[in-house]
Amino acid sequence: MTHQKERWGSRIGLILAMAGNAVGLGNFLRFPAQAVQNGGGAFIIPYLVSFIFMGIPLLWIEWAIGRNGGRFGHHSGPGMMDKLGNHKWLKYTGVFGIFSNLTIAAYYCYLESWTLGYVWHSIAGTFNGMDSAQVGNYFLLYVGADGNPLFNISGQAISFFIITFCLNLWILSRGLSRGIETASKIGMPLLVIFGIFLAIRALTLSSGELNAINDAAAGLNFLWQPRFESLADPKVWLAAAGQIFFTLSVGMGCIHCYAAYLHEKDDIALNAVSAGFTNEFVEVILGGSIIIPIGVAYLGLDEVQRIVGLSMGFQTMPILFQNWGPVLAALAGLAWFGLLFFAGITSSLAMGQPIIAFLQDEYKLTRQKSVRYFGAMLLVLTIPCIIFFSHGSFSEFDDWSGTFSLVVFALFESLAFAWIFGMNKGWDEITRGADIKVPAFYKFVIRYITPLFLISVFLGSLISPLGGKWKHAFEQLFAGEGWPLDPGSIIGKLFKLGIEDTRYFIDGVPTSVFIIDMTRLLLVITFIAIAAMVWYAWKRHNSASERQKEISL
Ligand code: ALA
Repeated sequence: MTHQKERWGSRIGLILAMAGNAVGLGNFLRFPAQAVQNGGGAFIIPYLVSFIFMGIPLLWIEWAIGRNGGRFGHHSGPGMMDKLGNHKWLKYTGVFGIFSNLTIAAYYCYLESWTLGYVWHSIAGTFNGMDSAQVGNYFLLYVGADGNPLFNISGQAISFFIITFCLNLWILSRGLSRGIETASKIGMPLLVIFGIFLAIRALTLSSGELNAINDAAAGLNFLWQPRFESLADPKVWLAAAGQIFFTLSVGMGCIHCYAAYLHEKDDIALNAVSAGFTNEFVEVILGGSIIIPIGVAYLGLDEVQRIVGLSMGFQTMPILFQNWGPVLAALAGLAWFGLLFFAGITSSLAMGQPIIAFLQDEYKLTRQKSVRYFGAMLLVLTIPCIIFFSHGSFSEFDDWSGTFSLVVFALFESLAFAWIFGMNKGWDEITRGADIKVPAFYKFVIRYITPLFLISVFLGSLISPLGGKWKHAFEQLFAGEGWPLDPGSIIGKLFKLGIEDTRYFIDGVPTSVFIIDMTRLLLVITFIAIAAMVWYAWKRHNSASERQKEISL
């Protein structure tokens, strides 16, 4: 049976879907946290430099690899990496493009479901009159309270997760144009409207008004006052580059997948930068104008620096909204958590599509069947994330899949594109059908600068020194005292630095060390299982083409 190839319904639909893929929880929760923790204005310069020299080139590379793969009927990592050259191993680099999406979706959908729960509670006025500790308890309801009971998660949190999970699968089952594109056309404009509403409210807050103790503008000044000394701090560079990865969704495999549904001569040069800049507008302008200014207005900069991140987004924001009176608090809660929900779902749909495409292309399954298999795989991975959230499973998924694996895949794909596919062919691929003139110096950037940037990020995260103090670490090294590895560096994590008691069980109860190791094992097994599926699919392709040859002889 041959399937009619799916296509995007319109250019605007494609750009909204690509932008929706990029715009996610990272824009509103991760970006402010990274910016604040890395010195505000000190973070912005490395962030923008990373966008220009790593983000934009990677967008072009991924769109080009994707559209090229689509020509050969491949819409997911393994098939499109395979088409970059004549090496059998190339397809296995594409395993990252399935692995990252599947394992990120596993924790991301859970996070997305909290936003839905919080929309509900904001409208219902649940947080009205609660103090921060009470909302804190609510937050714990969703994340699973810390402490001994291993299985610690509320029925309510599970219900919102099931709704979110089913909604994702339903939209995916409707197909590319009727499902993903339609969801993006609804979700993205609503998200921007919610964001503008909150940003205006935030930026017009002045000291003394509605219980604010500072002008909201103080938060913006912190973010926008450039501090050039940061340029010499590798820690800030690593954080900035990591944020560019996460926010643009590069190194994941979903951009390639969406681009594979383009026609051979459709523009990719302008489409890629349009989607990239839309994401940056939403991240830097909207994402930077909500949580930081409101937080600084009510809590001051020091406190925001201390708490910014997930718990501030979910636990503190609803309390701060209460200062605006019940009606505005409900509206602000709806806008804030609604915005997070739309940001999240348009990204998680993009994570699902490559896996569905892999099953459709390489195993010839129907979309409906592929969606069902994807749902089953997602559940297998999400359940440990939910159950063992407070014991570190969730963070392990985020560290290995949401941070490390993206850099590895981006490094492979940029080297394969520039050096195996070849830069001249690659440049033709990027510029074919282009609606803008791509600056020629990007040929040099893609060939040399982007891979070097990626190698530095890779090595940097492998051996980050204690507390991110690079200067001090080099001094120590040259003094012959060795390299002080940070427990959070990749090597530090692998060797469990800083963990004194590494027992798996204490009094018969499994410890967090055990759970973290089991989570890692699950991730490794997942990777190997996907690689085995790739191997088997190609074995089937090869025997099918052998049979075909025999028949035609
Ligand atoms: N790019 C998505 C985000 O920022 C994954 O959340």
